[in-house]
Amino acid sequence: MARKKIVIANWKSYPATKRDALKLFTAAKKSAARARNVTTVVCPPVIFLPLFTARRKLFLGSQNVSGEGGVAHTGEVSASMLVPFQVAYVIVGHSERRALGEDEAMVAKKIRSALAEGLQPILCIGEAERDTEGAYHEILRQEIRSALVGLSSAEIRRVLIAYEPIWAIGKSAADAMKPEEVHEAVIFIRKTLTEIIDRSIAERVPILYGGSVESDNVASLYTYGDVDGFLVGHASTDAKSFNEILESVSNA
Ligand code: PGA
Repeated sequence: MARKKIVIANWKSYPATKRDALKLFTAAKKSAARARNVTTVVCPPVIFLPLFTARRKLFLGSQNVSGEGGVAHTGEVSASMLVPFQVAYVIVGHSERRALGEDEAMVAKKIRSALAEGLQPILCIGEAERDTEGAYHEILRQEIRSALVGLSSAEIRRVLIAYEPIWAIGKSAADAMKPEEVHEAVIFIRKTLTEIIDRSIAERVPILYGGSVESDNVASLYTYGDVDGFLVGHASTDAKSFNEILESVSNA
């Protein structure tokens, strides 16, 4: 079944200045407009969100969201605060946030608070290392179940899953996962989803890959990985690389 292609830019804590953020967003806007059949989402640091306007085919996302609103949580931004800034997506459970102490219960709460405000959560999952016995499967299964069990089918239909093996993040195309390994993980993720929801819905949940996606490997990852798109970190903060990635996905 042909699914919609989606490319998400995770700028992390870049760029350093407002000026550079505006420049990078302008470039992303042009690239997104040129890309056919691709939905582009830019997730900048939250402070830059009010500077940007969403467009057709170009959406805004937040890199994080609080699990609760209206509480005394210093430094947190709630889902309802993001909505007026045209935010449509939110990354939840990124490994860099899990490393800062975000646990599975917090991830589950964040998913729910995003959904309650009409935001689409991008649930990040991924093992820290690969073992030969396949124990990483159990990690992925646990991360999916703890975040999604208990949600309604209508809610799960609005979730995206980003498979991001931690060992492949922040390197270069040569160190990224191989397309056939991505394909195997996608099959496993869909199988796990069918334990929670109807197959017809499980088949429609977009599954993205993230971890050293660059212009050099994106086409083969798309063609042979059977993913719906990508969560792109460092390469999304370089206008030329991001444009090449969108072009490749558009042509794939
Ligand atoms: P990377 O990051 O593309 O720099 O590996 C991906 C991510 O962490 O989302």
